Amino acid sequence: MKLTSKELRNKWIKFFKDRGHTPISSASLIPENDPTVLFTTAGMHPLVPYLLGQPHPGGKRLCDTQKCVRTGDIDEVGDASHCTFFEMLGNWSLGDYFKDEMVPWSYEFLTEELKLDPERLAVTVFEGDKDCPRDEHTAELWEKCGIKKENIFYLGKKHNWWGPAGQTGPCGSDTEMFYDTGKPKCCETCSPACDCGKYVEIWNDVFMQFNKNADGSFSPLAQKNVDTGMGLERALMNVQGLKSVYDTDVFVPIVKKIEQLSGASVTDENAVKAIRVVADHIRTSTFIIGDERGVTPSNVDQGYILRRLLRRAIRFGSSIGLKTGDYAQISDVVVEIYADAYPELAASRDKIAHEINEEQARFERTLENGMKEFEKLCKFLQTDVIPGKSAFRLYDTYGFPLEMTVELAKEKGFKVDIDGFNARFEEHRNLSHAGAEQRFKGGLADTGELTARLHTATHLMHQALKQVLDDPTVNQRGSNITPERLRFDFSFGRAMTPEEVKAVEDRVNDAIKADVEIVCEEMTVEDAKAQGAVGLFTSKYGEKVKVYTMGKYSKEICGGPHASRTGELGHFKIVKEQSSSAGVRRIKAVLE
Ligand code: ALA
Repeated sequence: MKLTSKELRNKWIKFFKDRGHTPISSASLIPENDPTVLFTTAGMHPLVPYLLGQPHPGGKRLCDTQKCVRTGDIDEVGDASHCTFFEMLGNWSLGDYFKDEMVPWSYEFLTEELKLDPERLAVTVFEGDKDCPRDEHTAELWEKCGIKKENIFYLGKKHNWWGPAGQTGPCGSDTEMFYDTGKPKCCETCSPACDCGKYVEIWNDVFMQFNKNADGSFSPLAQKNVDTGMGLERALMNVQGLKSVYDTDVFVPIVKKIEQLSGASVTDENAVKAIRVVADHIRTSTFIIGDERGVTPSNVDQGYILRRLLRRAIRFGSSIGLKTGDYAQISDVVVEIYADAYPELAASRDKIAHEINEEQARFERTLENGMKEFEKLCKFLQTDVIPGKSAFRLYDTYGFPLEMTVELAKEKGFKVDIDGFNARFEEHRNLSHAGAEQRFKGGLADTGELTARLHTATHLMHQALKQVLDDPTVNQRGSNITPERLRFDFSFGRAMTPEEVKAVEDRVNDAIKADVEIVCEEMTVEDAKAQGAVGLFTSKYGEKVKVYTMGKYSKEICGGPHASRTGELGHFKIVKEQSSSAGVRRIKAVLE
């Protein structure tokens, strides 16, 4: 079946809208107030508070296409199906329908909308363990739909359990749908659990009814949810029987541009990996920079992932002859492809090109010397292990991301002492730059009382900053809250004076003393804007949002949760104000 990305997105939204779902816009790629992850990795991620029981303004049935970034499989990029950015089509029941509705709908969508051959559909269901019983009910539902018994496979937690997205949070058993490519079985017990390529995954329905706790145990959630996810690129590839995701309409123009600029061809087996790496990494970088909360390359957090993606793209790109300026041109093609679906990219077109060119210039300044240093290092090495200290020097002085050194080393048959590198890295790293490992300690979307109070303080401070600094460019660029402190990034071109810091603290403390009630109202994005609420006004569907008002002190679009009254906050204190990246300041503050 011929199917474009646009048709698939539209089919998805229409199918679920017809079944009572409210379409919602993709959330930002940069999670807000979530200290546990760097990027949005699944459609459910921005919905965690609602899966835990908070009411959503769109009701109990939602659907969307969500921008996602996952860099865990970055080494696999270059094969047929791995990408660091992808769109996830999703639908949710927030304590509403469950398996009896979801399974037949899934079957209907696959066979009637995507016209997949029912004979070739295979599904997996959870085989059961001490935490959750065997899911015979779902298997029966599939059989009733028409899936042959021999195409229903029971598998364990490794395959049929999804979540949580971080270390704690909502999760549950799932049922996954696969399409049989027609390849012969690889062995007697061949199943969708094999990676022999016979079965390709299409969709995952998660029955989210547990919360994973910090001690590893599972407790039942207050409500039973459904959370489903279908990767758009892979679905397009599978439905059309294409060889790779790079042959789908979201990639073809990017690949063509790379071929044109480099003179290389995807039909050349020596060039195909490099072309795909450039296509994937520039697409992801374009989405990260062009996001409504876009970030720029740096040495911390999301900015560092972006730097690694760009530098990796440049390294692979130079092997096929891409030159200065080419990457920005490739990003322009990405912007074009997504002009309708993600208009925020077009709005940042120049910024994206500028940031990519700048990063390329920065990298090229050190790359040559770094390569010389690397060659020298290899020549004099007594063992086959590059010491952590040397890898750190390549990182610190020449801007070589660790995995780049690891890849270069591998090409020469060397290994890298990664623990040694990490030890150095930790020694040198400013404590404020909490590492990815540390950020996983908190647990996903910690909605405890302390976090809620700090979240309220963040709103009050945001407004106070706008007033004290009296500069229209002051805007939130990032927020990260743990039970101990808030961290807030905002656009502003210089350091704050001690007097300004004090004035912001005073305003927040005044609002706390006033002990005003915090009121949450639901309204359309347009109404929120008209009322002067602060926030991101990206809405594709004219959907409703929550607006939190704190007396005269703050009005902001936000998912919550918050304290009930400002008086609960205690005393507000800014402990640090520093630079975060060019044009962005970072504040850390506490409630005492
Ligand atoms: N959250 C589920 C996934 O990412 C649907 O596969």
